[in-house]
Amino acid sequence: MSNKTILRYTSNQRTNHWLVAILFLMAGLSGLALFHPALFWLSNLFGGGPWTRILHPFMGVLMFVFFLGLVLSFWRANFFIANDRLWLRRIDRVMANDEEDVPAVGKYNAGQKLLFWTLLLCMLVLLFSGLVIWRAYFSEYFGITSIRWAMLLHALAGFVLILSIIVHIYAGLWIKGSVSAMLHGWVSRPWAKKHHELWYREVTRDEASKPPITKKG
Ligand code: HEM
Repeated sequence: MSNKTILRYTSNQRTNHWLVAILFLMAGLSGLALFHPALFWLSNLFGGGPWTRILHPFMGVLMFVFFLGLVLSFWRANFFIANDRLWLRRIDRVMANDEEDVPAVGKYNAGQKLLFWTLLLCMLVLLFSGLVIWRAYFSEYFGITSIRWAMLLHALAGFVLILSIIVHIYAGLWIKGSVSAMLHGWVSRPWAKKHHELWYREVTRDEASKPPITKKG
């Protein structure tokens, strides 16, 4: 941490995040190709229909494994605190960019936290339903009714996950400085104070008791 900047994400966290993002795109596009004939042309990206069907579950499992890395890094920061309820009630002011009476939040605001737990739920449903419908290895252990339910749940969880990620990307682009934090790791002090004041106070208090870390590169 230097006088001007605060570290928001370590290089491991950033690499982990972008690996999940790439795997999400690959698993998502291959999943859409298998979902509906109108989207089958997407299978060309993965070497045709059979390859798409072979690769999709592996990409999904890999995405889940890397996503667990994000969960282990961020789950504590996504616990709800007292201010979050009030923040949600004032969401209209947040949307209007008038944050005067909006309560201070920690490292993540209530919207980000809701999204985090939704992502985790979707990933768990996708993983378990995906195993049930993975014909090459596991489907033989399940009856046809379970397989049909698993297919439905898999599609629903995929749909919610895609919508959630669209919201996630939109929010990231909307709050200037967020994408840069996930790319370079650092945020400015005014950014931290404006968007995540409780977190800002926490890290700057820590800073007083530790030797400063200077920004590299
Ligand atoms: C593909 C494009 C994506 C973009 C542009 C993007 C952008 C970002 C940005 C800017 C942040 C930092 C937010 C902040 O510090 O306040 C962030 C955090 C995060 N992202 Fe993404 N992301 C993408 C995909 C994904 C995917 C696919 C997942 C998981 C399925 C994901 C999960 C997360 C998580 C867990 C965090 C930490 C925030 C929290 O714990 O609430 N992201 N992302």
